[in-house]
Amino acid sequence: MLISGRGSNLDALIRAGLDIRLVISDWQEAPGLGIARRAGVPVATVERQAFASRSRFEGVLAELIRAYAPRVVALAGFMHVLGTEFVARHTGRLVNIHPSLLPDFPGLDTHARALAAGVREHGCTVHWVTAKVDAGPVIGQRTVPVLPDDTPATLGARVLAQEHLLYPLVVYKIFAGEMVQPC
Ligand code: GRF
Repeated sequence: MLISGRGSNLDALIRAGLDIRLVISDWQEAPGLGIARRAGVPVATVERQAFASRSRFEGVLAELIRAYAPRVVALAGFMHVLGTEFVARHTGRLVNIHPSLLPDFPGLDTHARALAAGVREHGCTVHWVTAKVDAGPVIGQRTVPVLPDDTPATLGARVLAQEHLLYPLVVYKIFAGEMVQPC
């Protein structure tokens, strides 16, 4: 699993009993690393600025991942756009969770943008990762209502609770061979 920060989705996957082989962070202070360590999951930190090029950085990530031979490579808040070579190397295994109902609101600040747009429903999406950011085929979504007094924080918390239900379910289904990336 690849993270950069809080690690609440990682926590949800661990609590669901999934066999997390390795957690990689691109930031050594990521709170999610503590969650992994406390659960006895091996961790690695690979910081982008330690490498002269993006392809070298991603090459190290790919080698680490290869050593653990995972069936699923799950991104959760990993703040780095992965290049085409890395993506191609992990086709069929690489998934991401995004805090909106894609194709609506790709990118950042999804909850504030959903409120500004006046949508009545918002939610989260797990999708296959392709070279285009937040645009790969959707695997699963969960929706929440947008309430009249919502702020980005209250709406985001409602969405996050659904992320924690959706991601373990989808990862398990891929692991079990029930979900396959379309060609
Ligand atoms: C989640 O909202 C996820 O949808 C987005 O980044 C956030 C990561 O949160 N891609 P966490 O680190 O799993 O708590």
